[in-house]
Amino acid sequence: MRTSRSSLRVRLTALLTGAAMTGAALTGALAGTAHAADAPLRDLAAAKGKVMGTAVTGSKLTGTYGEIAAREFNALTPGNAMKWGSVEPTRGTFDWAEADQIVDFAEASGQQVRGHTLVWHSQNPSWLTNGTWTPAQLSGLMNDHIALEVGRYKGRLATWDVVNEPFNEDGTYRQTLWYNGLGADYIAQALTAARAADPAAKLYINDYNVEGVNAKSTALYNLVKSLKERGVPIDGVGLQAHLILGQVPSTLQQNIQRFADLGVDVAITELDIRMQLPSDSTKLTRQAADYKAVMAACVAVARCVGVTVWGFTDSDSWIPSTFPGQGAATPYDENYAPKPAYAAIAEALGGTTTPPTGACTATYSVSSQWNTGFTGQVRIACSGAALSSWKVGWTFGAGQQVTQAWNATCAQTGSAVSCSNASYNGTVPDGGSVTFGFNGSWSGSNPVPVVTLG
Ligand code: XIL
Repeated sequence: MRTSRSSLRVRLTALLTGAAMTGAALTGALAGTAHAADAPLRDLAAAKGKVMGTAVTGSKLTGTYGEIAAREFNALTPGNAMKWGSVEPTRGTFDWAEADQIVDFAEASGQQVRGHTLVWHSQNPSWLTNGTWTPAQLSGLMNDHIALEVGRYKGRLATWDVVNEPFNEDGTYRQTLWYNGLGADYIAQALTAARAADPAAKLYINDYNVEGVNAKSTALYNLVKSLKERGVPIDGVGLQAHLILGQVPSTLQQNIQRFADLGVDVAITELDIRMQLPSDSTKLTRQAADYKAVMAACVAVARCVGVTVWGFTDSDSWIPSTFPGQGAATPYDENYAPKPAYAAIAEALGGTTTPPTGACTATYSVSSQWNTGFTGQVRIACSGAALSSWKVGWTFGAGQQVTQAWNATCAQTGSAVSCSNASYNGTVPDGGSVTFGFNGSWSGSNPVPVVTLG
């Protein structure tokens, strides 16, 4: 799960991101990069007593995505898998598969899990939102849902976002199914039900645009204060932090501190920093500074327990589909190369200050394919990094066999293929590329394999 890293040796990992092209040609791309930080983010965070988390999609927790999620983060939040609409799409019919998968993965990886989320106005099943409920029925539905879901994971989850996004921007309560049916007391009811279902889990209220001191965060502050005074179980507030490039609130640390002073924990729960696409180096540098500012504010306050990014790679971010034209909001690009933001997070957690040194990528493609044979090629290209030798490996998934290779020495054992440079093409300069080719046999199907460069 964890791999050690040498600062001298360029360490390359890869993931297939390819898609079918026209005819028989298939292209898979893989990317790797030199990580400059001397330790994974999770180790840096742990040394400071902080959580460094990421939201994840269960189906992606394999290959490079799974490797990075396990290596760099000590907490996971299911991005969607634990929402009511995901777990009970039809009344009384439950689907826990993805939620269970994420919890299992986290336990295997020594990570905590943040449950997200129990009581919200969004991503509810239609049977719930379209129903007509008396207050007593609504209260019963909410309490039963909490008892069931929190109870299912009792003892396994560190934290629950019990209530999500209860406020409007002006600090009034959002008119939701819950507020309209039960009044503001639905929040206390939900927290009480969650405490009963798992006394060990930390219980949070989570919202967005509450990062700085403003009307909305003040409403949240007043709510938490009154809940504490009433003895309602509340352990922390989640500041989502879906931020816009260049707009980290100047009062972030002050705001975290005022919640801490109330006697609750604070977590940055959904950090991403979006920009108008396309990204460029100026924007990415600015983004790195913004990430660093958010991290630093949390590091500075003892009761800020940590930061979770809302997806660690731009290929798994909600931003492009939700904010058209915007994106590049996470610390890794679509090909899993760490962006300047990655180094900035590491620095804020006390890691080395060496910026990322760039990336080498390899692209596997099938250039032609006929009844039993095919010709494939792999292109290795470097940008901001260089190689003096290279080795590419993959595992064929459908019985394919390399029969002949050129411009590389290839060997196949079972389904595992390993190709290394020829005597004359080991050097891939910064900005340059090398390509080698091979013939292979196939039958049935010829899927593009996941390739590793290292
Ligand atoms: C988002 C998910 O990332 C998307 O995949 C989904 O389509 C919509 O919800 N605030 C929250 C999160 O609390 O649950 C939201 O997650 C992002 C905003």
